[in-house]
Amino acid sequence: MQRIKKLLSIFAVLGLISFIGGCTNAKPVHKKSAMMKPPFGGASDVAYGNQLWAQMNKKGFNSLPAILFYGPPPHGRVIEILEGKINGKEIIVKRNYRGKGITLNEVRKNRSKYLKAITIMAKRGPGYDPTEQNWFYAKYKPNGTYFKIKKMMPAVGRVAKGMKKGCIACHRLAPAGNFVYIHNPKLIRQIQ
Ligand code: HEC
Repeated sequence: MQRIKKLLSIFAVLGLISFIGGCTNAKPVHKKSAMMKPPFGGASDVAYGNQLWAQMNKKGFNSLPAILFYGPPPHGRVIEILEGKINGKEIIVKRNYRGKGITLNEVRKNRSKYLKAITIMAKRGPGYDPTEQNWFYAKYKPNGTYFKIKKMMPAVGRVAKGMKKGCIACHRLAPAGNFVYIHNPKLIRQIQ
């Protein structure tokens, strides 16, 4: 009886060792190369968005005042839009303001108190996203970092492409068919 018990425990130990060995040798189920690259939030999107942010600072897109007006949902309660070119390509920058008891006057007096998000659309070269007219999107916090989609993916690049909700899904419905909603030159500050 003792011998049988001893034999059994040896088999158990051997079994455990081969099990652990099998786990460590196991090949990962998803090979990295075979995985689809997400359409936004990757290292190259973040790098391009950071570079745009630096140029927006340099050219005044983040500091020059524009015309404040009350915006429709879903963005800010009060918004202002600036438009121009960075590296020869079109960019639309929208500052979104929110806060308790917000009015145009209150924002005018203290923009930084109410500034919650800076949402941009920037044209990229042909081939970037041909089916969506090659727009690059980003949603920055006032300090230049990104909001996150689903709490993990930085909102920068072809944001939420293929998803039911998000920048592209909604901007595709813009009436002029160019993904741009408000394009009233009287409301937009041009920066060249
Ligand atoms: C549910 C719909 C919806 C979603 C989602 C949405 N937008 Fe918009 N966006 C609008 C509407 C409507 C306007 C025009 C009103 C305004 O400016 O608030 C607009 C305006 C803008 C503008 C100014 C140019 C224009 O089209 O008038 C920019 C830039 C912009 N959005 C960027 C973004 C970015 C970046 C995201 C994603 C992080 C995003 N939007 C998500 C509906 C949406």
